[in-house]
Amino acid sequence: MPCQVWILHHIGIASVWVFFGVFMLHRLVVTVYRLVFSPLARFPGPRLAGASSLYEFYFNFCKNGKYVFELSICDPTFYDKLYVSGSVRPTESYNRFADGVDFDGSHFLTISHGLHRVRRKPFEPYFSRLGVTQLEPTIHELMDKLLGRFDILNGTNTVVRLDHVLTCFTGDVISRICCDSPTDLIDDEQFSADWHEALNTIVRSMPLFESFPWLIRVVRLVPKAFLTWLDPRSQLFNDWKEMAEQQVQQIKDERSDAAKTRTHITGPKVTLLRHLIHNSGLPEIELSTSRLVNETQVLLGAGTIGTARVLDLICYYILARSEVRARVISELNTVMVEYPQRKPTLSQLERCVYFQAVIKEGLRLSYGVMRRLPRVSPSVAIQFRRWTIPPGVPVGMSAYMQLMDPEIFFTPFEFISERWLPGHVTTQMHRNFVPFSKGSRNCLGMNLAYAEMNHVLAALFRPEEPRFQLFETEESDITLAHDFVVPLPRVDSKGLRVVIQ
Ligand SMILES: *[C@@H]1O[C@H](CO)[C@@H](O)[C@H](O)[C@H]1NC(C)=O
Ligand SMILES: *[C@@H]1O[C@H](CO)[C@@H](O)[C@H](O)[C@H]1NC(C)=O
Repeated sequence: MPCQVWILHHIGIASVWVFFGVFMLHRLVVTVYRLVFSPLARFPGPRLAGASSLYEFYFNFCKNGKYVFELSICDPTFYDKLYVSGSVRPTESYNRFADGVDFDGSHFLTISHGLHRVRRKPFEPYFSRLGVTQLEPTIHELMDKLLGRFDILNGTNTVVRLDHVLTCFTGDVISRICCDSPTDLIDDEQFSADWHEALNTIVRSMPLFESFPWLIRVVRLVPKAFLTWLDPRSQLFNDWKEMAEQQVQQIKDERSDAAKTRTHITGPKVTLLRHLIHNSGLPEIELSTSRLVNETQVLLGAGTIGTARVLDLICYYILARSEVRARVISELNTVMVEYPQRKPTLSQLERCVYFQAVIKEGLRLSYGVMRRLPRVSPSVAIQFRRWTIPPGVPVGMSAYMQLMDPEIFFTPFEFISERWLPGHVTTQMHRNFVPFSKGSRNCLGMNLAYAEMNHVLAALFRPEEPRFQLFETEESDITLAHDFVVPLPRVDSKGLRVVIQ
């Protein structure tokens, strides 16, 4: 693809007025719609997303004044020059969606480079490669529990939503890392189907809240009981916030008790929240319950959805392609031979080259965050070829364009794990492989995601695997069709269903 630079938004005075009228009309329609129908579930997400350029216009207009522009660059060689580490230059984010998603104050939505570093630093030991290695027993323990449930279903021809199962798994893992009273989503009879639906509903309503940040504030004013009456699922969102509040409050309360009795607070296995509150050395202002609750929700949400989605996709392709399945199983044979008595380490699994190729191809087709992640260099100009981008201008690149570039990945929409085998991989492929983004604001959970994917897939597709077959599930149930900030498959999909024979 030739290099292109677009000036996206350059609004004249006349179009501002036209737009303003249209906006007010939409605002009216949507408000009525929202009040009459469900506040969360039945938002016309896709339809609004389709009209989103107008809303982006509005938002940009409000934020930056009359002449607004955000640069979008499509040149794979530039990616790691834009998404750089803090040692190269500070990077601010440009959160057009931040205002609407209700997680203000979390590290993820922190605009300033310095404050972002301060807030993110305490998490890093938990999500570093070493930190994640120490979490392996937790992953194994949850896997044992899950396999126990599958054993009971063995031979019953039960249809199971594997996407629900995987959301439980990733949810329970991240909750064990963060919270003192973690969730046990896997134990639920229905594999916490409600929780999966609630998360999806939240994701699906993101484009709406992104475009109408005030909407979420209005929703918050509506009495809870009324919302619950309109749609019982809206209660799940409140429950979720309350759960996070309890987790934070519980640890905070302990501090005052312990301060009185001068005992040690932290045990040998310190959860992330406990570390944050007691040992991180963050200034008091950073430890407000409100901010910690928002941070907790971001960690739990991001740690659950992203990894589960990639796992869905990989499980589908392994189950749908008998040759992939056979090859994965035969390669895992040696390392998984004594499972579950003897568990493999992450490094052992990483030596299975075909298995790793399957995981990489799954990550490639999951896109990470699909849209551009705009970044701002606050004080230094960025040079892109012959253009000098002045400080303060948001510049974005899309991971999707990198991962689906047909010049680098032949037939990019096909799942072809072989492309990642030694001998086929090129340096350009490595360069373009950015599912976790890059630089100082890359995905915090990358190592954890790799560890979970390796252990879960190895256990599910070991030689003595549970006898899964796909049940009325096709590729279109899995391929990501909508960009709701987080990409999702088609809205009417019945999910990844398997029957345990
Ligand atoms: C946390 O999010 C809530 C909205 O749920 C917001 O009102 C509050 O200001 C945020 N807290 C901080 C410290 O930004
Ligand atoms: C499932 O049941 C079959 C017999 O119906 C048995 O051969 C197989 O070992 C069982 N698998 C597991 C994982 O328990």
